[in-house]
Amino acid sequence: MGITITAEHSAAEVRAAQGPKIARKASMNDRFLRACRRETVDCTPVWLMRQAGRYMVEYRKLREKYTILEIIKTPELAVEVTMQPINAFDLDAAIIFADILPPLEAMGLSLEFIRGEGPVIHNPLRIAADVDALKVPDPRESLSFTMEAIRQTQRELDGRVPLIGFSGAPFTLASYAIEGGATRSFVLTKSLIYNQPEAWHDLMDKLATMVGDYLKAQAEAGAQVLQLFDSWAGALSPADYRRYVLPYSQRALQVAQSSGVPVIHFGTGTSGMLELIKEAGGDVIGVDWRVNLADAWDRLGEDVAIQGNLDPVALFAPIPELERHVTNILAQAGGRPGHIFNLGHGILPQTPVEHVAALVAMVHELSRR
Ligand code: CP3
Repeated sequence: MGITITAEHSAAEVRAAQGPKIARKASMNDRFLRACRRETVDCTPVWLMRQAGRYMVEYRKLREKYTILEIIKTPELAVEVTMQPINAFDLDAAIIFADILPPLEAMGLSLEFIRGEGPVIHNPLRIAADVDALKVPDPRESLSFTMEAIRQTQRELDGRVPLIGFSGAPFTLASYAIEGGATRSFVLTKSLIYNQPEAWHDLMDKLATMVGDYLKAQAEAGAQVLQLFDSWAGALSPADYRRYVLPYSQRALQVAQSSGVPVIHFGTGTSGMLELIKEAGGDVIGVDWRVNLADAWDRLGEDVAIQGNLDPVALFAPIPELERHVTNILAQAGGRPGHIFNLGHGILPQTPVEHVAALVAMVHELSRR
């Protein structure tokens, strides 16, 4: 990162130019980092979104004793869960165990994970005054448990594979903050956009600041790659995405990238606006299975890497059928530099664990250069 440091630069800019403070050990397995930078690899790297979770017996056992928020907020437990899939499978990256929603709690919302129901925000945002009351705290303090979990995980990993830090994107976080939980129609979120556009822009401004800073803080703590999850971006028309979301994701991604590590920009249902997702930013674009990977790459161009895009339900297929899916995806990637194999969305709790092991081995074998 070549900027000349002068008195006009802020401390943060100077830090960014010098790279993160924590010296990172080079990973022994660097094929994931190489693919993020579109360099040649010995075989295609693979990791799975939500790779730590309920499909693993080790995770379910720990969840009998602790709530998800207790695990996230206790660095020792977060490290243990982060390592579970790394110890069980030949994955090429670890992702820190956390969730996209704790930053909303840090901003003043009351978050609870209810068993069998998912996340609930007890005081959702409905009017401009609710947005005004939101805080934008320093994530290094308000989310220090995740920074500490990253530092401890790096010690535990000891260079085995690179570690990913992540955040929800402003739009996806806004939808939880406004709806108070999961939604199919996004009727409250879109109603706020259309009826109270000023409140919407104020909210997105605060979220973009929080998200960018949170991602950067994770890189400073030792995360080697960052992923922005805009899981629900596909709920918007391309025109609304451009007007109401793109500038805020772009700002958060720019701040994340100023830390000097590769950034993955992921969304689902985005095949109608891949060009806009790229315009918002990211070194790697994550796509789901609703788009053919070759078509996605033709549209995005060769100057980005691509992550994806197996249907998570393909893991429920018999091995030969699973292998056909994997072969197809690798053929669509066509040996282009910069393919990172992943699911198109998070792994499902009922997934047969033997199929996860088979998938990882298959990706490595079938893509061996
Ligand atoms: O990938 C990983 O292994 C890291 C951990 C991780 C979790 N959540 C842990 C988790 C990551 C990357 C997330 C991201 C996340 N969380 C997203 C974006 C990715 C996506 O899937 O779209 C979203 C939308 C959330 C919000 C969230 N968290 C929901 C909707 C739920 C409930 C639904 C469910 O799967 O139960 C959660 C809870 C959650 N976060 C679990 C895990 C492992 C399951 C909680 C449990 O143990 O009961």
